[in-house]
Amino acid sequence: MAVLCGVLLVIIMNDSFATHPEDSVRIEKRVGALLAEMTLAEKVGQMSQVNASDGNPIEGLADRLRAGSIGSILNQVDVETVNELQRIAVEESRLGIPLLVGRDVIHGFKTVMPIPLGQAASWNPDIVRDGAAIAAREAATTGINWTFAPMIDIARDARWGRIAESLGEDPHLASVLAAAMVEGYQGDDLSANGSIAACGKHFAGYGAAESGRDYATTNIPENELRNVYLPPFKAAVDAGVVSLMASFSDLDGIPATGNEFLMRQVLRDEWQYDGFVVSDWDSVRQLQIHGLTENDRESAFAAATAGVDMEMAGDAYVGHLAALVENGRVDIQVIDTAVANILRAKFRLGLFENPYTDPSSLPPIANEGALKTAKRAALQSVVLLQNEQDVLPLAKGELNSLAVIGPLADAPYEQLGTWIFDGDSSLSVTPLAAIRALAGDDVEVRYVRAMENSRSRASDAFDEAVDAVAESDASVLFLGEESILSGEAHSRADISLPGDQAELVRRVRARGKPVIAVILAGRPLTLTNIVDHVDAILFAWHPGTMGGPAIADLLFGVESPSGKLPATFPRMVGQIPIYYNQKNTGKPPSPDTIVHIDDIDAHAPQLSTGMTAFHLDAGYTPLFPFGHGLSYTEFGYREISTSQSEIELGESVTISAELTNSGERAAEEVVQLYVRDLFGNVTRPVKELKGFRRVHLEPGQTVTVDFELHTDDLAFFGRNMQLMTEPGEFHAWIGGSSETRLRTEFRIIDSD
Ligand code: BGC
Repeated sequence: MAVLCGVLLVIIMNDSFATHPEDSVRIEKRVGALLAEMTLAEKVGQMSQVNASDGNPIEGLADRLRAGSIGSILNQVDVETVNELQRIAVEESRLGIPLLVGRDVIHGFKTVMPIPLGQAASWNPDIVRDGAAIAAREAATTGINWTFAPMIDIARDARWGRIAESLGEDPHLASVLAAAMVEGYQGDDLSANGSIAACGKHFAGYGAAESGRDYATTNIPENELRNVYLPPFKAAVDAGVVSLMASFSDLDGIPATGNEFLMRQVLRDEWQYDGFVVSDWDSVRQLQIHGLTENDRESAFAAATAGVDMEMAGDAYVGHLAALVENGRVDIQVIDTAVANILRAKFRLGLFENPYTDPSSLPPIANEGALKTAKRAALQSVVLLQNEQDVLPLAKGELNSLAVIGPLADAPYEQLGTWIFDGDSSLSVTPLAAIRALAGDDVEVRYVRAMENSRSRASDAFDEAVDAVAESDASVLFLGEESILSGEAHSRADISLPGDQAELVRRVRARGKPVIAVILAGRPLTLTNIVDHVDAILFAWHPGTMGGPAIADLLFGVESPSGKLPATFPRMVGQIPIYYNQKNTGKPPSPDTIVHIDDIDAHAPQLSTGMTAFHLDAGYTPLFPFGHGLSYTEFGYREISTSQSEIELGESVTISAELTNSGERAAEEVVQLYVRDLFGNVTRPVKELKGFRRVHLEPGQTVTVDFELHTDDLAFFGRNMQLMTEPGEFHAWIGGSSETRLRTEFRIIDSD
């Protein structure tokens, strides 16, 4: 039973900043000394970030830079221009404070990695870290020293276009990968050439936008906010993230940009964060549009006092903050703290020592190593959703011809996905090119695009596609969404395959040949209307520059798929939000308590349903669950056990299971550990991911996979918003998806 006095309160401390303690002391001294010399106008200047992509930024910004009224620029990627802007700031302003140069480097710079949601499907922090490090080094060649990434909003609604940029629905997976991305961008030494500052965004709750409509209101109870939405931010803070970005969204009546609870209570008081917070694009002034403030002056007041240290692309701070201080409404301490937070970042980045960029001191763009990492990331992110009769991999030796059909087979730009301001589509290797290269002379490849793009309604070219399929031994259909259909402000209400793609599938299917769908998309899609008309589905997300070679290797079995879903795939859009770590409810559904709308007893309709939590037309299960992903080999799990059946608070338990590769190929599997806390001070999810590991197994090999769980790993926020681990009963599962049934139990007992 949950007894509050018996709980272990976990002390929250931000204790792992990358900066060495001695450096921290030195930096604090320098921050203090500089701050003491600054005028109020110069302080407000540091709190202002301006867009440097319009017109001639040198002419446009020089005077303001000389006056010390700009702390940061964004969106300028010409290195000479950036160096000149830095030079003016450093050499021609009174105090010579260098600039933060920001840019959205979200999943690669010129070399593009899979979209973040795809990277999350790799469940591989190492590849995520490597991808971010490559992005940082490439971006740094232009003078960029700060990226607005990682985006770590928990996303449980695939309608939301920005789910593409997220790390999925799960707090644990997103937290581990958030930390890895921060480490990748920032490196071991933030001041090193090629390291750039990261920015965890959007603080907080943005992913819960009502109906997935971007920028819409979010309603998140504080308990859910703390247990679900905040953990990735805490993980990023613990990994030393230099900055956070306030969200555009309204959280329980107070837009995040003016939300003191988030930025003062949680971030500063509880987490002891000493990085800085930037607003989102013009989101300070938008406080008025939200209806929180009357005018820009009040917006500046609300945002600054709530804890937004820097205003992005707006003029509320430069226009009003000084007067607000002078007339006594804003305490100078608020300004000094904000400026100190920003200067601290500049010192940590080593910008005072080295504000300029020499691109030749950094590795070449899109070098062999970068492309290799991009391919590996794409390989590990592709999820094999289904594979009837083991139609995949294609057996090169037995195949004489292959029809390659669809609008996304040869679309170099589209495979890069959303947020690729700087991505170079001329580097993209498309699936068609890679299939041709791999097939060589052995397999004749017949390519028919069939649709101009994924949204096309014209079916004139379908006959040609069907003919190509009829003449070939197998067909691969490249379907999905172009990059424009996901990302910011690109939400969809219907997330099935757009245009006439389902019709194309049916037409091709009618030829009776094996049909393989490779889907490129920025979100989970509802695939219910095609799933029975294709033999196999490889879900490739937007796989980036090297998506083509990765997909070709998977199709021909050079590699076995190993991606696992980082978000649940609904059967129908009406099931959303649907996620594995839901609460049980008082009336949980089961196979015997549900009835389908078509089976309702016409004579006794009131007796037909089992009075549980399900949809008459969709049941309660997803089409593909979180964590799902097949392989070309057979993985079997057995013999789950715990090191002890009882542990005390403060101790650890080891959960292990045997994993066997009983198939005929070497392959990697992502082993997942889930836990359920059976009852608590607040209700607990039916399953929660608590650990995962990618393991490589040779054919016939068996390994024991162990996960050590400390009682702190089972902590959650209770009804008083205290982080606690309670004594009681726990279930633990190990397996290859969230639907694993291989279960054991253990108990936590009170240490008193
Ligand atoms: C987005 C941010 C992004 C910023 C700067 C905003 O519209 O919400 O995620 O970093 O623009 O481009």
